[in-house]
Amino acid sequence: MKEKLEQIKAEAIRQINESEALDKLNDVRVSFLGKKGELTAVLKGMKDVAPEDRPKIGQLVNDAREEIERVLDEARANMERKLREAKMRAEVIDVTLPAQRNKVGHRHPNTIALEEVERIFIGMGYEVVEGPEIEKDYYNFEALNIPADHPAKDEQDTFYINSDILLRTQTSGVQVHEMEKGKLPIRMIAPGRVFRADEVDATHSPSFHQIEGLVIDKNITFADLKGTLAEFAKELFGEDTKVKFRPHHFPFTEPSAEMDVSCFKCGGSGCRFCKGEGWIEILGCGMVHPKVLRMCNIDPEEYTGFAFGVGLERIALLKYEIDDMRLLYENDIRFLKQF
Ligand code: DAH
Repeated sequence: MKEKLEQIKAEAIRQINESEALDKLNDVRVSFLGKKGELTAVLKGMKDVAPEDRPKIGQLVNDAREEIERVLDEARANMERKLREAKMRAEVIDVTLPAQRNKVGHRHPNTIALEEVERIFIGMGYEVVEGPEIEKDYYNFEALNIPADHPAKDEQDTFYINSDILLRTQTSGVQVHEMEKGKLPIRMIAPGRVFRADEVDATHSPSFHQIEGLVIDKNITFADLKGTLAEFAKELFGEDTKVKFRPHHFPFTEPSAEMDVSCFKCGGSGCRFCKGEGWIEILGCGMVHPKVLRMCNIDPEEYTGFAFGVGLERIALLKYEIDDMRLLYENDIRFLKQF
């Protein structure tokens, strides 16, 4: 009997030492000390032991039980300590490490350029207004002297919602909205998104931004247009910037022109930036067509005005020397945060 107990004890201790997890230890406890455990079985077998030997055997069983329990408790305490230590190591916070940066957004080059343009015109007494991106054919074309069969309509092929409603191809329609309000004089710029059925490439996108400008008052002449836009160019690209007006055609202005600015990289002598031209095309402009004024109930004999349209992306690309428009739309913070 004594040998049997020694054997059981030795086996229990062996299994305890082999256990690698708490639930394994528990299994060992159950299989030796549990109700159906081996040691319990020995106690149950006491009825076969001679009565005078029972106290002694009982004592031995108890000793074995205590020994196994002691080893079990020790093993459990050990294991728990190790687990706790591992957890502490895993969760340790090194307060000397630099903090993780919270990546907030960054102002987009378009936004920076727009705010610069707004600042310049607000400084000249202009108001900033907005118009709808979903527009009636009338405002986008008709009222701007672009009738249904006009070729300019083809050039600005766009996204039609129905035959009457479309995504605006230009911000020029905001001119009409402003003039229709009947409050004169007008001095406004209207920035906003426009849409054209263009393929994406380095200089085109189906959606981009323009800034429209409109001045209507008595005695406004082409000299006002030139002076205003020359001042704008200087503020935007630098004091030494020169401007040049080339005759052009827009249906809603007469006369019309395109304005170039002297290259702010080479000063006009010609470089890679201006493709050797010395000049960079920057906007379309002109004196508001009398027909357009009349359609907006403004008497062209009493009031005249000028208008212009600038591409916002074009300004951002030039100002920040970005050579591919697509970069503006990818919203990669690594790119954007450079500006
Ligand atoms: N809307 C014209 C375009 O998209 C730009 C433009 C040219 C606007 C002349 C004007 C203007 O107001 O007078 O090409």
